[in-house]
Amino acid sequence: MRRAIFPGSFDPITNGHLDIIGRARRLFDEVTIAVLVNIDKNPLFDLEERIELIKASTAHIAGIRVDTFDGLLVNYADRQKIYCIIRGIRAISDYEYELQMALMNRRLAPHIETVFLMAAEPYSYLSSRLVKEVCKLGGSTAGLVPEVVEKKLLEKFKFSQKG
Ligand code: PNS
Repeated sequence: MRRAIFPGSFDPITNGHLDIIGRARRLFDEVTIAVLVNIDKNPLFDLEERIELIKASTAHIAGIRVDTFDGLLVNYADRQKIYCIIRGIRAISDYEYELQMALMNRRLAPHIETVFLMAAEPYSYLSSRLVKEVCKLGGSTAGLVPEVVEKKLLEKFKFSQKG
């Protein structure tokens, strides 16, 4: 069975992530979405919320596991006995950072391979950070995130605006 890990912060999951997950599932029998527990930056969604939103957004896709990890990604991969890491690339600007990460991970664990998948063009400018900013400032995020995420984003920002 071909297995891969799709790691990330997922604060929150977007349609760009879902596009990559769909592509990964065409190549791998099982994809484990591994959510980073401790994000440096202040997350909008806590770990439980991020997991719930991923589960709700991927419930219709077979062969998906949702898990959490802390510490080095390659150590988590070893514990899981999964030796392939998936990363999505949107634009050339992503490539430099992603290359650094992939090469550092390779140095730490040469038996683990990173596979880059290209997001579909409509998602090439999409990021969790921009989605949060657009929603916070009153813009529509329809079509950029799953409906369940859109609802949750609106709740968050309505609540924070009221105080
Ligand atoms: O969604 P993101 O924020 O782009 O995901 C980044 C992530 C979680 C894949 C990356 O920060 C990571 O792997 N963190 C775990 C710590 C680690 O292994 N660092 C060394 C990577 S070279």
